[in-house]
Amino acid sequence: MKSRFLLTLSLVAAALTGAVTTLAETLRGEGGMVASRSDLASEVGRQILQQGGNAIDAAVATAFALAVVYPSAGNLGGGGFLLIALEDGRVLAQDNREKAPGAAHRDMFLDAKGDVDRNLAVNSLQSSGVPGTVAGLLDALELHGTLTRQAVIAPALRLAREGFVLNDDLAGQFADNLEGFSRHEASLAVFTRGGEPYKAGDLWIQTDLADTLQRISDEGRDGFYKGPVAAAIAAEMQRNNGIMTTDDLSSYQPVWREPVHGTYRGHDVYSMPPPSSGGVLLLQMLNMLEPYELGRLGYGSTATVHLMIEAQRRAYADRAEYLGDPDFVDVPAQQLLSKEYARQRFADFDPARATDSASIGAGSWPEESPQTTHFSVVDGQGMAVAMTTTLNRSFGNRIVIPGTGVLMNNEMDDFSSKPNTPNSYGLIGRDANEIAPGKRMLSSMTPTIVMKDGELRLVTGSPGGSTIINTVLQVVLNVLDHGMGAEQAVASPRIHHQWLPDNVRFETGALSDEVATALRAMGHKGLNGAGFGIGDANTIVKDGAMLEGVSDPRSVGGVAGF
Ligand code: DON
Repeated sequence: MKSRFLLTLSLVAAALTGAVTTLAETLRGEGGMVASRSDLASEVGRQILQQGGNAIDAAVATAFALAVVYPSAGNLGGGGFLLIALEDGRVLAQDNREKAPGAAHRDMFLDAKGDVDRNLAVNSLQSSGVPGTVAGLLDALELHGTLTRQAVIAPALRLAREGFVLNDDLAGQFADNLEGFSRHEASLAVFTRGGEPYKAGDLWIQTDLADTLQRISDEGRDGFYKGPVAAAIAAEMQRNNGIMTTDDLSSYQPVWREPVHGTYRGHDVYSMPPPSSGGVLLLQMLNMLEPYELGRLGYGSTATVHLMIEAQRRAYADRAEYLGDPDFVDVPAQQLLSKEYARQRFADFDPARATDSASIGAGSWPEESPQTTHFSVVDGQGMAVAMTTTLNRSFGNRIVIPGTGVLMNNEMDDFSSKPNTPNSYGLIGRDANEIAPGKRMLSSMTPTIVMKDGELRLVTGSPGGSTIINTVLQVVLNVLDHGMGAEQAVASPRIHHQWLPDNVRFETGALSDEVATALRAMGHKGLNGAGFGIGDANTIVKDGAMLEGVSDPRSVGGVAGF
C-alpha cells in the first residue's frame, strides 16, 4: 500500500536551476510540466523540456527514469500505453502492451483439476508477457520526438550507474517484497545488500540495469530485443520453465491505434482503445451520466454517487463480455461507445434503487498496492503525453533476469485464465480475453486527454488495476462537472464499483454518513469504506495558458515544471 501521508499541498523543493524552476506536489506554470510518481523522474522530464525537448522527449526520458527510480512499476520488462496530443490538436494512441509468447496456450495456468493456479499465474516466468516498453518508447521518440535516443536515456543511465538515495517509500517497498525477491538470486542481489534490506538514506546503484540502458542507448531497440539482453531473458526462461523465446522478443512491435474518442458536455475526450478496456468504459460511463448534470446534483451527493455506481456496474459488466485484443477478437467498440447504446443500457436505471449485479464468480476485493504508474507531461508548444506503464503486480513477478537488472512483468494474469474466474483484481472475463499466442491481455489502464475547442484541458490517468477507470472518471467529472481545479479534482476522495463483486468501495471522506445510509437503504452493498487509497492520478489541468500539475497526494511523487 502506498504511503498515505498528505503533504501540505505546497512547494517541497526550491528552485533547482534558477528561480523559474520548481518541484512540488502541486505546481502552476506556463512553460512545461511533468507530474509523476517520482520527484526524480519528474525532474528528469523537466530538464529535457528546459533543454528544448518536446513533451514526447520528456515523456520518454521520464519513463526510462521511472524504470530506474520506481522499479515496482516503472520498467523495461513491462508494457503500457501512451496517448499523445500533437500541436495541431490530433491525438494518437500507442500500444506497447505485452504480448503472450508464441508458446502460450489458453489453459496454461490451469491445474490438473482445471482450476487457476494463482501462483503460476503471477509468480512464475510463465506469467510474463513479451515486454513492450522499450520498443514503444523508442518508436514514439523516433516518430514524434526531437532529441536523440542518447540524450533522453542519459539521465536514467546516470541514475542507475551512479545511484540515488533511497527514500522511505522505496526502502519500504523493497522490504515489503523481500520474501518474493528471496526466491530469486538475481532479484535478491538487486534489491538487498547481501540479503540485508536497504534502508532509507542508502545509495542504491544498479550496475546491470545501467549496462542494459547503455546497450539500448547505443543500439536502440536491438540492444534489448536482440543480443545479450534478449539471450539472457530467453536463457532464464529455459532454466525456469518460462516459455518466452528470442523470436518472441525480436518480433515484438508496438502498435499505433486510433484513440477512443467521445464528447462530454462540449469537451472532446480521448482515451486508450482496446486492448485496454479503459477508454471504452470511461466513455460509456460518461455517456450514461451526461444527461444527469452531476454538477447540479453536487459532488458526493446521494444522487451523484448512486448514478456513478450504476454507470460503473453496467460498463464493467460489458467489459467482461466484450473486451479483448482487437487484433484477435471483434470488439464492438462503435456500439459500446454510442450515446444511443448508453441510453438503452441505462434505461433500467432506477433513481431510487440499486440494481443487483448478476452473481457469477463474485470474488473478494483485491488489495491495492503500487504496481502501475501514470505520468502526465505538457510542453510549451501545446503537446501533451499521458502514459500509464506497468509490470502488473508490484515489481511484476519479482524475477530479475540475471546480468541485466531487468525485472519481468506478470501481465499474463490480465488474461482471463478461466471463464468467469476472477484475476488478481477480482475481474472476470470470458472468450474475448482468453489466452492465445501473440495476443495482448486486456488492460484497464486509461491514459486520457481532454480538449475543449481544440485546446488542451486535462491530461490524466492512474494505476490501481480495476479501479483505474473509475479514478479517471472521477478526475474528469471533478474538473468538467464539479468545476474543481487540478489539486482538488485529484485529492477529492473516490468511490469504486466494478459490477462484480457487487460492492461499493469508498475512500474515507467520499461519503458522508448520511449519504452512506441513504445508499444502503437503496440496496447498495458493501458500503463499509475501503480504508485506503484508490488510485494515483498524476494529472495536469490547463486553464487558459496556465498549467496546474498535481502529483496525487495519496502517494509520494512530484511535479516539476516552470
Ligand atoms: O493493465 C492492467 O489493467 C493492470 N495490469 C494494471 C495493474 C495496476 O494498475 C496495478 N496498480 N495498482
